[in-house]
Amino acid sequence: MNKISVLFVCLGNICRSPAAEAIFISLLKKKKLTDGFIVDSAGTGSWHIGKKADSRMRIAAERRDINILSRARQINSKDFDAFNYILAMDDSNFRDIKNLKTTTSSSDFALIKKIQNFRSVFNEKEVPDPYFGGDEGFDYVLDILEDSVSGFLESIS
Ligand code: 4NP
Repeated sequence: MNKISVLFVCLGNICRSPAAEAIFISLLKKKKLTDGFIVDSAGTGSWHIGKKADSRMRIAAERRDINILSRARQINSKDFDAFNYILAMDDSNFRDIKNLKTTTSSSDFALIKKIQNFRSVFNEKEVPDPYFGGDEGFDYVLDILEDSVSGFLESIS
């Protein structure tokens, strides 16, 4: 059977999208669905390429038994042909992804959506950027993502 591939995308690929990726991987493990999926994350920006996720996000996630293991990379034109779903964290990421596709790829393979389209408990239409804020912002991002990432999985199962 073909695997379903999912790419989570934010700006820096060190806070929100690595958290979304790790939450999704953890959910797939719990539901014994790991073998059916390829999961990755990327940033629209290039500043943090090769770096681990922000330690504040890794620590907040570890408290929920979620391990963030990814290294930052930048989204590129090949991703539009490689992933079934590209899921943006906010409106600005969504616009940047669409612009990159327009200028670099003719592939209509990937479905590009905002992760918050799949929310049910939280009303936030975007995942807020926690980078310049306090520690509580990281927990809030995890709360929001646990809701919308599980909503996404339900929507495709
Ligand atoms: P992320 O957060 O997009 O959730 O990874 C950010 C990380 C770094 C920066 C901005 C947002 N930055 O400006 O370096």
